[in-house]
Amino acid sequence: MSKPDVLVFAQSPSSAVMTQLALQFECHHVWQHPPAKQEAMIAAVGPRIRAVWTVGPLGLDAAMIARLPRLEVVVVNSVGVDRVDLAALAARGIPVSNTPGVLTDDVADLAVLLLLAAQRRLPALDAFVRRGDWLAHKAEPPAHALRGKTAGIFGFGRIGQAIAARLRPFGMEIVYFQPRAIEGIAVPRAPSLLGLAERSDYLILSAPATPATHHAVDAAVLAALGPEGVLINIARGALVDEPALVTALTEGRLGAAGLDVFEDEPNVPPVLFALKNTVLTPHVGSFTVETRHAMGQLTLDNLVAHFAGLPLLTPV
Ligand code: 8YV
Repeated sequence: MSKPDVLVFAQSPSSAVMTQLALQFECHHVWQHPPAKQEAMIAAVGPRIRAVWTVGPLGLDAAMIARLPRLEVVVVNSVGVDRVDLAALAARGIPVSNTPGVLTDDVADLAVLLLLAAQRRLPALDAFVRRGDWLAHKAEPPAHALRGKTAGIFGFGRIGQAIAARLRPFGMEIVYFQPRAIEGIAVPRAPSLLGLAERSDYLILSAPATPATHHAVDAAVLAALGPEGVLINIARGALVDEPALVTALTEGRLGAAGLDVFEDEPNVPPVLFALKNTVLTPHVGSFTVETRHAMGQLTLDNLVAHFAGLPLLTPV
């Protein structure tokens, strides 16, 4: 029996996953072609494609879906599916899977790393030592302690709750906001995102990108966080009004920011490079050997389940 044809938009860094994928499926690797040649490649194989393998940042739009008449399943090697046109897929009855759960710990770890680095001014201190300023007896201002501060978490799903569990031992108060209250937990819920920012020293974003969360962190929310406040974003750049964030940081109306995600990745507003009060990472929340393997394996397992006539393991 011939192997199902899969259009693969991005490779998994796990060679074990890529090997298994190639053994079980007829893979058409878009990412192996230079951008100028991808159109022709997709046009050639599109009519026989039965599955798409993609990642959150690339997604899958309606125009591409329309070019794949035999498409029966989409597997996303990410938890965030904001760039996948779920409505266009649903209209054709095409199921979609993602990778919840397996990346929770790593993403929560990165949120804590960014918060500690931003609050304790790690980049500035590292640069201070490397420049020889310590040796030259120059001075850096002291940082502020984490103990006794309030961390507001926007989006209190798996990742938000894992961040809260990590921050409590630092002696912090935790508050959250998301539209749907979570029953049976002791963590207080703020009445709104603005209310959350007003109560928080640190605002940590772990909500999905949706039309409702688009630019939810605007100038008013940043003003409520204030000149000592710290913004941490490990979710999606689209949650933040980026020009408003840049202005607040450059004018000292926001204390600091730790950012792993941006509106137009990999383009980061260059003005942020010169600021001492920012910690910037290149969208690496889930980027560990173990987690990227687990994500790839789960994505593959979903694909295998579909072609074995079974329901998806982690449907969106
Ligand atoms: C990236 C993420 O998708 O899972 C998500 O939603 O944002 C990340 O894990 C990763 O770059 C996928 O390759």
